[in-house]
Amino acid sequence: MSAIILNKVRKNYGGDVDAIHSVSLSIAPGEFLVLVGPSGCGKSTLLRMIAGLESCTGGTIRIGERIVNEVAPAERDIAMVFQNYALYPHMSVRENLAYGLKNRKTPKADIEKRIAQAAKALEIEPFLERKPRQLSGGQRQRVAMGRAIVRKPAAFLFDEPLSNLDAKLRVQMRVEIKRLQRALGTTSVYVTHDQMEAMTMADRLVVLNAGRIEQVGTPIALYEQPASTFVASFIGSPAMNLLASDQQAHWQAGDALQLPSEPHTVGVRPEHLHTLAPGQPPASGFNATVRIEAIELVGAESYLHCALANGHALVVRVPGRATHPIDAFIQLGAAATDVHLFGADGRRLERLTSPSKPKVCA
Ligand SMILES: Nc1ncnc2c1ncn2[C@@H]1O[C@H](COP(=O)(O)OP(=O)(O)OP(=O)(O)O)[C@@H](O)[C@H]1O
Ligand SMILES: [Mg+2]
Repeated sequence: MSAIILNKVRKNYGGDVDAIHSVSLSIAPGEFLVLVGPSGCGKSTLLRMIAGLESCTGGTIRIGERIVNEVAPAERDIAMVFQNYALYPHMSVRENLAYGLKNRKTPKADIEKRIAQAAKALEIEPFLERKPRQLSGGQRQRVAMGRAIVRKPAAFLFDEPLSNLDAKLRVQMRVEIKRLQRALGTTSVYVTHDQMEAMTMADRLVVLNAGRIEQVGTPIALYEQPASTFVASFIGSPAMNLLASDQQAHWQAGDALQLPSEPHTVGVRPEHLHTLAPGQPPASGFNATVRIEAIELVGAESYLHCALANGHALVVRVPGRATHPIDAFIQLGAAATDVHLFGADGRRLERLTSPSKPKVCA
């Protein structure tokens, strides 16, 4: 278990714009840190810099007690797991697992013991004599994971390791990777663009936006207190509804919501909008009349795709199977505590609301 500390790390590939702008981050020993963000935001670059596969243009990277900027990848005591598994096709699974250890002159008995332990933990014992091409994608991913485990490295680095697997296997493997990492207690940095993977696996999440850290925190902190509209729309599915203040003619603030006078954006998550029955009092935070344009049934819940009078889309997540007629008008409400406010620059605003504030009658 080692800490990984990035101090003002910068990467420039030679163009006008840095791929990574001065990123500072402390990853605690044993922590599972997930780097998440849209395509091209610099996730792989940052991970490859930790691995030593890319140099740093500026700043320092520390793994454990050592600054590793000048240390070769093989000497950094890290194991990387890639999306394409990177197994040697001409070697059996056993040989693939043993390869890195043999190179490090690990004693034969120790190699055999480590392979046996990893094969058991990953349930790949029956395939040890097979070649990678004789395995399914999920089994290959397990072997790739096994190759990382047998090394007993100071840290695991994962770059979208599950993106070649089908949806069901992805869910199964993400639970397995998390369970293994917890059992081994190995510091891990995991890159994904899948926010579900990010939310379910991370001890802490780092949201990257164009080479900069947008926010760092626990998944629940990022969900409940997104620091910006970027994080708000990236974490949570379906994404948070965002409405600019110039659209306020088309919805009404409840009596507990105090809106800033400057331009701003109001955010409400689809799961926090509820339908109000006729005659029901307005919600304390957000109220709107919308037309239902489409309904998606996804099993345990339904997504109502709605539109405000000006056509702006709003998504509502309701439990069970929605039976509303298409084109019907419904009244939506959300509690003031579930309304997020962002400034004109997209940054979160301190809450001006006091939900218990008594209603002031004119
Ligand atoms: N070897 C390279 N040479 C020049 N530019 C590069 C190189 N590798 C990456 N980049 C650029 O750096 C930026 C970050 O790329 P990176 O691969 O780190 O993104 P990413 O977040 O991993 O994206 P994805 O989710 O698509 O894998 C992109 O603009 C990319 O075009
Ligand atoms: Mg990448």
